[in-house]
Amino acid sequence: MSKPQKFKTLRGFRDFPPEDLQRREYLFSVFRSAAERFGYREYDGPPLEALELYTDKSGDEIVDQLYAFTDKGGREVALRPEMTPSLARILADRSRSLPKPIRWFSIPQLFRYERTQKGRLREHFQWNVDLVGEDAIDADAEILAVALTALRDLGLGPDRIRARISDRRLLAALLGAKGLDPETHEGAYRIIDKVEREGRDRAVERFGTELGVAESLAGEILELLELSDPAELRSLAPDASPLEEAIVEVEALLEVARDLGFGEYLSFDLTIVRGLAYYTGPVFEIFDRAGEYRAICGGGRYDSLLERVGGEALPAVGFGMGDVVVGELLDELDLLPDLEPRVDYFIVSITGEERALGRRIAASLRARGHSVALPLRDGSVGKQFKAAASEGAAQVIILGPDEVGRGEGVIRSMADGREETVALDTLTGEE
Ligand code: HAM
Repeated sequence: MSKPQKFKTLRGFRDFPPEDLQRREYLFSVFRSAAERFGYREYDGPPLEALELYTDKSGDEIVDQLYAFTDKGGREVALRPEMTPSLARILADRSRSLPKPIRWFSIPQLFRYERTQKGRLREHFQWNVDLVGEDAIDADAEILAVALTALRDLGLGPDRIRARISDRRLLAALLGAKGLDPETHEGAYRIIDKVEREGRDRAVERFGTELGVAESLAGEILELLELSDPAELRSLAPDASPLEEAIVEVEALLEVARDLGFGEYLSFDLTIVRGLAYYTGPVFEIFDRAGEYRAICGGGRYDSLLERVGGEALPAVGFGMGDVVVGELLDELDLLPDLEPRVDYFIVSITGEERALGRRIAASLRARGHSVALPLRDGSVGKQFKAAASEGAAQVIILGPDEVGRGEGVIRSMADGREETVALDTLTGEE
């Protein structure tokens, strides 16, 4: 007989055995709790969408990474690489009948054919929180606060992480003030987006070769991007200029986010551009302070996407936070709680004769909402206690011939060994 073929997960995909799933569920519960405390409601959509939903809305980087194919009906489809286009599509159908603003969140599994590396897989779960129908800066600050609330709840304080905040309008106004044509701005964003990874010299070179920007001007622009206070850009901004307006907007965002309790996390950082094509205003990314990991989270304002998928023209702002980077960071800092298996009761039968009674007690306790594990065959008392421990039983119900003869059982706490005698009728629910 030929050796059976062994199968592994595909590269960049994960299995979730119970302990990993429990860890994932822990993250999700923190995400849900944060979103719900701000009044957001959970939604979902299908994992497979029409290919065109992404091809001109998401930006080249994501489109290159699509899992796309032709289905059996000849339709071009793609596994969702991000949730925002789906959200826009869902709302295009429904937003008119919904009170504004719309506060929705979701935790979809997403698929991108990425080069796998630390923090980047080919599938991940991404907590998406979006606020639609409000263009006041308080909406942007609220979205930032939801993300930071969850990270704070996970134990990541301002000593560990920081939110880097920029604004595409501010960047455009700045490039404009420096004499760069609007047509070159997309190209400039692409270069700026990579400054951190590729270095300043490479950026200057790219400004020259790709956009025809002189070395000295490129150097000046890159220097401005290093400023950490938006007010420092004022000298370049005449009153009522687009740059002045954009500065006021970012300052307001920082101030409102400070009021919401997250001042210590914030830094103004014009090198944050975001790879996706649809952002129109403030954008942000959250990173670990040491700078060892990829972005934990990214988001921003996208005021024209809903209209572009045929919906009501509604302003929107939101973010996506993956489960991968934050999981790696929590692991490294030992911030994940011990998530042991747990049942309320394990039923030990001393002679084996009491197993039928044990089954009746288990049935009754489960009907009353308790979790109960039972030995499935006769075994020594020692073995049964071992099983109780590995099931994570909080209490063991011991059924021995003498006690059962008296109509009683013993409940032992696994934490402190304390025992209590109880009437069997209480356990079987027949009192
Ligand atoms: P994004 O920056 O592409 O934004 O992804 C957001 C976050 O998802 C990243 O910061 C990272 O934590 C995680 N992530 C992305 N790709 C991967 C991957 N291959 N493996 C592991 N984690 C990953 C968006 O997707 C926007 N749609 C977010 C958004 C929502 N903007 C407005 N609303």
